[in-house]
Amino acid sequence: MKNEILDLVAQFADAQTKEFIPGESIVQYTGPTIDKDEYVAIISTVLDGWFGLGAQATKFETEVALRLSKLHGVYVNSGSSANLIALETMKELYCKEDKTYKIITPAASFPTTVNPIIQLGFEPIFVDVELGTYNMVEEQVLDALKDDDVIGIMYAHPLGIPIANTKKYYELIKQKGGFLVEDCCDALDSTYNNGDLVGKYSDAATLSFYAAHHITTGEGGMVAFSQRNAANIARSYRDWGRACFCSGKDVLSSTGACNRRFADWLGNGVITDHRYVYDRIGYNVKPLELQASMGLAQLKKLDDLTQRRKDNYVCLNAFMKSYEKYFILPTAPEGTDASWFSYPITIKDSAPFNRADIVEFLEENKIQTRNFFAGNLLDHPAYKKFDFDIKYSLENASIITNNTFMIGVWPGLNEEIYQYVFKIFEEFFKQRGL
Ligand SMILES: Cc1ncc(COP(=O)(O)O)c(C=O)c1O
Repeated sequence: MKNEILDLVAQFADAQTKEFIPGESIVQYTGPTIDKDEYVAIISTVLDGWFGLGAQATKFETEVALRLSKLHGVYVNSGSSANLIALETMKELYCKEDKTYKIITPAASFPTTVNPIIQLGFEPIFVDVELGTYNMVEEQVLDALKDDDVIGIMYAHPLGIPIANTKKYYELIKQKGGFLVEDCCDALDSTYNNGDLVGKYSDAATLSFYAAHHITTGEGGMVAFSQRNAANIARSYRDWGRACFCSGKDVLSSTGACNRRFADWLGNGVITDHRYVYDRIGYNVKPLELQASMGLAQLKKLDDLTQRRKDNYVCLNAFMKSYEKYFILPTAPEGTDASWFSYPITIKDSAPFNRADIVEFLEENKIQTRNFFAGNLLDHPAYKKFDFDIKYSLENASIITNNTFMIGVWPGLNEEIYQYVFKIFEEFFKQRGL
């Protein structure tokens, strides 16, 4: 019966392909690229009746970690949770003194790349970014590193554009005895340092599998490490703070990964199950096994999905070049190759129109746009409440808040759809006599 159900599911999924109708279909700025493989994988796992994390999650953790040049992955329920768990782990490993440590981070960011810094009692040192590459301003990072209280650097590769200096920043922070966390949520498969996958030069690398991202499990995230010890700590924070670090088939064994599951763990002479011993103040940010099965199906397509993102960038960028008079176009720095999340456009001050004008026109014509996330976080009410010590000008970050928007390059778009997008851009300029 299971096979019959899965056959029907595959037929249903096959029937979902939609035709693009110019002016009627929405040109999404991003979306999931899934077909029958993902539907069948999910339903098959559901029909197996096992919902908690299991063998598929373990496989997914290992395969995703390798794609970040790491050895150990810990699957969580979102990219935001991945950042939180990554930083909890770093705090435990690196912050040994009773003082307020500082972390360098760009002000133009996704909120939950920065929020764990605040939530876990660190002090952020905000740096600005360059327009176009959206990389952190190097002089500011190097200056901030001189501060003795700096223990970490934490940033996202913005919209898939790699932070070109990651190896250099990693080496510098290691010299100080600190850590680097790379948020790769928007940058799976991007490379830096002439061909190294993002994730390589850091103590922890994170991903999001929300439907907008390079591969999706609906919701979900991963935090990956080179060291098993770090992964065990992260797993503990993920799983209520428990001491037990069993995963995969160890969970099923009566002795556990530690080989002494039943022992005097609490030091009170009573034999206790390690699975119910807690040595951290933890969370529960676990996803579901059925999501992992979807993730494994997505991973098989990743090479192709990455190529399509790159091709779409090339196609869109070639067209946009004619409007460089008005726009700062996105570029990946030398030595890097971006697997683009989206295509950010910053409107120059000299342009005879503003962001609202063009965004409204595109949206009216069914072309989705988005802001470049928060732009400068410090422009937002939640962050204004804090008395942060702002050391550097964050001018470009605020330009992003006000003048940047993004459109799609995800694999759901193609040459035919772009012809429509180009026509609408041309109409916008024509209507203004430009
Ligand atoms: C750079 C970055 N970091 C973190 C996140 C958070 O991921 P999630 O939505 O899975 O919590 C996102 C989400 O888009 C993101 O773009």
